[in-house]
Amino acid sequence: MISTVLITGGAGFIGSHLTDHLLARGYKVRILDVLVPQVHGENRRHPAYLAPEAEFIYGDIRDPEAVKRALKGVDAVFHLAATVGVGQSMYKIHLYSDVNALGTAVLLEALADHPVERLVVASSMSVYGEGLYKNSTGQTVENAARSLVRLRSHEWDLYGDDEEKLLPFATPETKVPSLPSVYALSKYYQERLCLNVAQAYGIPSVALRFFNVFGTRQSLSNPYTGVLAIFASRLLNNRPPMIHEDGLQRRDFVYIKDLVQACGLTLSFEECSGQVFNVGSGQASTILEVAEKLAKALDKPTIQPQIADTYRTGDIRNCFADITRAREILGYHPVYSLEQGLTELVEWLSTQSAEDHSSVAARELAERGLTV
Ligand SMILES: NC(=O)c1ccc[n+]([C@@H]2O[C@H](COP(=O)([O-])OP(=O)(O)OC[C@H]3O[C@@H](n4cnc5c(N)ncnc54)[C@H](O)[C@@H]3O)[C@@H](O)[C@H]2O)c1
Repeated sequence: MISTVLITGGAGFIGSHLTDHLLARGYKVRILDVLVPQVHGENRRHPAYLAPEAEFIYGDIRDPEAVKRALKGVDAVFHLAATVGVGQSMYKIHLYSDVNALGTAVLLEALADHPVERLVVASSMSVYGEGLYKNSTGQTVENAARSLVRLRSHEWDLYGDDEEKLLPFATPETKVPSLPSVYALSKYYQERLCLNVAQAYGIPSVALRFFNVFGTRQSLSNPYTGVLAIFASRLLNNRPPMIHEDGLQRRDFVYIKDLVQACGLTLSFEECSGQVFNVGSGQASTILEVAEKLAKALDKPTIQPQIADTYRTGDIRNCFADITRAREILGYHPVYSLEQGLTELVEWLSTQSAEDHSSVAARELAERGLTV
């Protein structure tokens, strides 16, 4: 029986909510986290939102001794610790490979000595690259990609062989990954390594491919990830959200409370022999639409998003989730609409101050020629 759960990266945005969700359901929770400054601030502050009932171990996922200590007496592991960000991964290549790949390898060696009843790894929609498309004759296109020539002439959409625009549709788990960024590659490596090693040691395992998660506690000072947190940080400083391309790129925004529901379900799911599930809302929104809705919810409707008309290396145009598999097999039922999630987010934002570092992130990309 699963009673004690370790959450690596449990002090972060998703991990802290998962902690609350599991504590409320009677599990004991232990967190292993090194409180990285990019997320928690220069002084590696212990987040005030962390549930005091959870046991906190300060340690790095790449440190075998810390990981061994964290695994003592644990029945299940959620592996969330990671460096997170598509754009930044294209120049912090060592860091992303080190934390995400090596950190996962250290965890798995420790798990080989201390098998658990469940391993759940946080994977990402980024592994798909572009989502699925259909061409003008209705055929599915699996490996759609954008040419640099078109991107340089600011044509952001995707085209088929017949030069007709491709139409995006919901992406299921069966889509072949395409891994357009170092981050995507590292998340896929994490996912595969976990499922592969878990199978070898008889550890029931699941990979959850999270789509764009949003909600309270997402770092407002980290300009490298979390598009809604970045927009919120801009708006709270009375600056316009900066939007790459034309803002019509589509994503799936899933509210944090729905996401942790899916995570929790994996603990009572018996058939988890290396299965992969999309976790999204099942709804597609354009980036422009979410920026405008957030500005309105924050009562700043006059601050119009700024369309940068630029492409970031590693970015994709459209990807949103087909969540049929999670619905049917895990019994996952997202209940939050984008608007409901934004209402809760805005309530929390009214108690926060935000440091907007987004121009630093933009400059770092531009200096390296990683924007077109
Ligand atoms: N937020 C999203 O939209 C999203 C989408 C897809 C996948 N994910 C995945 O979900 C997981 C959690 O993401 P999040 O949004 O909560 O990010 P987050 O940055 O808020 O949390 C990550 C946590 O991991 C910790 N951490 C980082 N490096 C570590 C290390 N070397 N050792 C120990 N702890 C370390 C950080 O201190 C932080 O508390 C990640 O694996 C991420 O790749 C997130």
